[in-house]
Amino acid sequence: MTPGAIGFESLNAALKAAGEETRLRMVALLAEAELTVTELIDILRQSQPRISRHLRLLGEAGLVERNREGAWAFFRLAEHGAAADVARALVARLDADDPVIARDRERLAAVRAARAAAAQAYFAEHAAEWDRIRRLHVTDAAVEAAVAAELADRPFRSLLDLGTGTGRMLELLGPSIERGVGIDLSHEMLALARARLDRAGLRHCSVRQGDIYDLNLPRDSFDVVIVHQVLHFLDDGARAIREAARVLRPQGRLLVIDFAPHDLEFLREDHAHRRLGFAAEAVTQWMEQAGLEPMSHRLLVPEPGSDGKIAVSLWLGRDPRILLAGAHREVA
Ligand SMILES: C[S@@+](CC[C@H](N)C(=O)[O-])C[C@H]1O[C@@H](n2cnc3c(N)ncnc32)[C@H](O)[C@@H]1O
Repeated sequence: MTPGAIGFESLNAALKAAGEETRLRMVALLAEAELTVTELIDILRQSQPRISRHLRLLGEAGLVERNREGAWAFFRLAEHGAAADVARALVARLDADDPVIARDRERLAAVRAARAAAAQAYFAEHAAEWDRIRRLHVTDAAVEAAVAAELADRPFRSLLDLGTGTGRMLELLGPSIERGVGIDLSHEMLALARARLDRAGLRHCSVRQGDIYDLNLPRDSFDVVIVHQVLHFLDDGARAIREAARVLRPQGRLLVIDFAPHDLEFLREDHAHRRLGFAAEAVTQWMEQAGLEPMSHRLLVPEPGSDGKIAVSLWLGRDPRILLAGAHREVA
């Protein structure tokens, strides 16, 4: 078969699956975001059995993939295979201003906004106790020693801490850098971070409000970017990593720290988590897709006998561009 060509049977099955109004709308939506059944019900305003049936048909034809995680399942457009190519080609030809597609996208935006508001309400409520909550999982000392060790091979001058919360990463690494910036959506968290940086006398470090998905920062502006315990709250980790990669200088490093896969479902209800941790390959792939070179993955397992229940992963990626003026990375 010609490389990239699709067999008749597969093409026929993929077109049949996508050739129905709701399913085509679903294909368009899932190209924009990874969604749960409940979210699709909210957007498409159809019953759960109907949505589930459509998802099953799209899955069987290879257009959509399901990622089960605890009690939740996330659906997204398939990434590999002939049917995935068909899905992408269809989405590429869809008129983004079509009224049906535009209305669905508006509803998707509303669903995302409601989700973000729920997470922010949680952070506003828990800002003061966040440092204590953090310790429920893996000891700070072990994680922080590992963070310092991952970055120890080369000094760096500037640090961007995304989802900085109470600013602990800036406090930890601030003494050895020239410029530190923390970004967070939550005013309550930022107030605590400011107090912390003041107390530590770190005048070259500052924090400001901003969205990890849409940083108001120029490209190529930081030597190191850290995303510490933030990804599991987000609905689009890949996008956050892309945006982090954009602001990295050539040879700059991105360090992501988050939970390894776990089954503590209550963290969703009680602590606004969306994802129950990440497999090593998941974040590595996001880094690759963002044009970074994955350097290492390290797993920290809770000490036997400690209160910690969840292992923590550290992923280090590097911007592969060499330090030449005018060199640009191609982002896939
Ligand atoms: C679990 S806290 C981690 C804080 C800090 N990195 C630490 O480890 O102590 C997650 C932080 O991410 C922030 N956050 C969540 N979504 C965000 C977004 N879209 N943009 C910026 N910050 C976000 C929250 O406000 C919260 O302060």
